[in-house]
Amino acid sequence: MTRVALAFSGGLDTTVCVPLLKEEYGYDEVIGVNVDVGQPTDEFDEAEETADALGLDLHVVDAKTEFADLCFDAVKANATYQGYPLGTALARPVIAESILEVAVEEGCDAIAHGCTGKGNDQLRFEAVWRGSDLEVIAPVRELGLTREWEIDYAAEKDLPVEAGDGGVWSIDENIWSRAVEGGELENPDYEPPADIYEWTAEPDGETTIEVTFEAGVPVAVDGEEMGPVALIQHLNEHAGAYGVGRTDVMEDRMLGLKVRENYEHPAATVLLTAHQALEDLVLTKNERSFKAGIEHEWAEKAYEGLVFAPLVDALDAFIDETQETVTGTATVKVSGGSCRVVARDSAYAVYSEEMASFNTEDVAGIAQEDATGVAKYHGLQERLANGVAASVSAPELATDGRGDASGDE
Ligand code: ARG
Repeated sequence: MTRVALAFSGGLDTTVCVPLLKEEYGYDEVIGVNVDVGQPTDEFDEAEETADALGLDLHVVDAKTEFADLCFDAVKANATYQGYPLGTALARPVIAESILEVAVEEGCDAIAHGCTGKGNDQLRFEAVWRGSDLEVIAPVRELGLTREWEIDYAAEKDLPVEAGDGGVWSIDENIWSRAVEGGELENPDYEPPADIYEWTAEPDGETTIEVTFEAGVPVAVDGEEMGPVALIQHLNEHAGAYGVGRTDVMEDRMLGLKVRENYEHPAATVLLTAHQALEDLVLTKNERSFKAGIEHEWAEKAYEGLVFAPLVDALDAFIDETQETVTGTATVKVSGGSCRVVARDSAYAVYSEEMASFNTEDVAGIAQEDATGVAKYHGLQERLANGVAASVSAPELATDGRGDASGDE
């Protein structure tokens, strides 16, 4: 008996994979694994119905908590890729690992996905799976299947696929983001119609939302403590009602293709905005500027589905070191579809109102006139380079054409 575990969502691609894994690849048994990272519940019901009709043994794994924790790592890293908060990208390694665990427990010989050869997900899944001894199979890619071929094949085999297969848009949803692509959206010059949005209302009204962080991790909203999954779900609904968190990006995919993708991510927008605002208050300038480079690397690796990379562990170690003081609150105002910080507070603020104020004199033994020496030196190299340093006589200055040094024509 040979057995293969298939990442099964109940969509057209994964449905046609079930008979193909037996017919074309010769496996005796196929088991399906559907991993819950916060897809809508009707997707699970549909997957279960489809599995029943196919006679497929379907395992459902709840990975929402693990996924939410990873989303909070992304918050600590202020991570976005080309403006997108990485929902799909962060979910894939979590899904891949859950499926692999089931495959190993069930004594499978192989593991399969229904991704095409054009997207990022094939790479994200296989980056995890190819570390195991199981054979990795990608029927859609390996057999060069097209959507039309799949629809004909499903009709011929009488497979339980719904006509239209979920409508014109290709949608990928989890608690961190809802991604919409395909159909007319493939034309970058086409404005998305209102009906692509499900999480965000047309902007109307305004409110403020206060987020409490402990060591960089969101722990409460408007004073109410919540666990990671509940907190994200609450903010998606609450901020989504104010139209917050829509992005329309020309996304550079891992294989080099540029693809137009629309996203909704109200919770991610609120949490990333609030977290950044709190960091702005408690981190030093040097920490902030160095961390920006770390964040860029983190987001790139996350986009590639490589959050388990040793590099990411090292980046996380740096990030965690900076997060000790990211404790306090930040308040954002959501209005007109925008989200901006309006207040922040922390016991660890690298800030002295007394020092920054225009109305105080000596503070910590520093008087206003102490800045005179600094002011004399500031820009010295620039003045020398431009040949305008007052204390250096003109003939000593370089006259090689930089600026308008005196003595030069
Ligand atoms: N472009 C995003 C990524 O690769 C999301 C992909 C899934 N999107 C979709 N609408 N099916 O991370």
